[in-house]
Amino acid sequence: MQFKKFTTLGSLVAAGLCAALASGQIVNSDHNFTSQGWSGGEICKPCHTPHHAIAGIPRLWNHELTTANYTMHEGPGTAEADFDYRSRLCLSCHDGTVALDSFGGQSGVTFLTGDKNLGTDFEDDHPVGSDALYPPDPQPTWWAGAFHDPADVPSSTPLRDWVDGNGVTQQVVSCTTCHEPHNRGGWDSMLRTSNAGSAICLGCHIK
Ligand code: HEC
Ligand code: HEC
Ligand code: HEC
Ligand code: HEC
Repeated sequence: MQFKKFTTLGSLVAAGLCAALASGQIVNSDHNFTSQGWSGGEICKPCHTPHHAIAGIPRLWNHELTTANYTMHEGPGTAEADFDYRSRLCLSCHDGTVALDSFGGQSGVTFLTGDKNLGTDFEDDHPVGSDALYPPDPQPTWWAGAFHDPADVPSSTPLRDWVDGNGVTQQVVSCTTCHEPHNRGGWDSMLRTSNAGSAICLGCHIK
């Protein structure tokens, strides 16, 4: 739904309520798997389980985790190839190496295809995880004037924790900085907030 198409305040409010009550739900998103044969008709279960979740992974995770090696955005060998845990959860379906139906201990056979399979080469994707430290460390000369201060990054697109090889928690851009897997906001592409006028991008980049 494009809010900008509504002109009166009344319809704006109505559209907002509508997004909150109806479209802003997982059932109205690509993550409603019920109609796909591989899901067993369940929404939550391919990702979460109330019992017997995979040990050592947050969020009662039920989907087999990816163990792929990645080429990070800046190219082979240019960065420590590691992601924050939230991005790893996404990549367990979206890097195309683990079957969608590999959940609840079963070994699946149905893989993501097409554009929604991002693959394991992130050179053509926005930097995520260790490749997207915020601010970069060491901080390059071009930082000031190019990026907002970390404290000014909007809470609607939060930076996420990533624990580096020395056990230090750093702030990085994550898949869940821009996306919300339950479609709470009802925005296109399950974004966390509106990207009208590239608002998401301008929250970090000074352009
Ligand atoms: C496609 C995968 C996927 C599906 C389907 C899914 N979730 Fe999630 N869920 C996630 C991920 C990934 C996180 C971790 C996000 C984070 O920590 O920021 C999460 C986190 C959560 C959390 C804790 C944090 C939060 O954002 O509220 C709850 C509660 C939750 N999910 C409930 C559910 C329920 C209930 C369903 C089914 C109606 C469901 N999820 C369906 C992927 C999914
Ligand atoms: C259980 C597997 C699974 C997990 C885990 C998962 N996804 Fe998905 N995702 C899918 C499938 C399946 C589709 C639909 C693909 C299609 O329709 O071709 C999808 C679609 C999407 C889309 C496209 C939405 C649109 O409207 O175009 C986005 C964005 C997305 N996922 C982001 C995420 C993010 C971010 C995470 C982690 C927070 C995540 N996914 C975790 C399986 C998953
Ligand atoms: C900086 C913000 C940002 C980050 C980080 C980000 N995305 Fe996206 N993503 C977007 C936007 C914006 C779109 C919509 C692009 C469009 O409509 O052309 C999108 C689209 C998608 C799509 C749909 C692609 C398609 O062609 O249908 C998927 C799947 C997806 N993202 C998954 C992910 C996953 C998984 C991650 C983490 C590895 C991630 N995204 C990280 C902003 C982001
Ligand atoms: C949460 C903060 C954040 C958001 C939101 C964000 N970016 Fe970024 N962006 C970064 C960081 C961090 C880097 C990597 C800086 C570095 O270390 O080189 C980056 C890098 C980039 C680059 C440079 C890539 C290269 O190869 O040099 C482009 C272009 C870019 N972002 C575009 C976008 C667009 C378009 C959006 C909106 C869809 C967006 N960004 C949203 C933080 C963000």
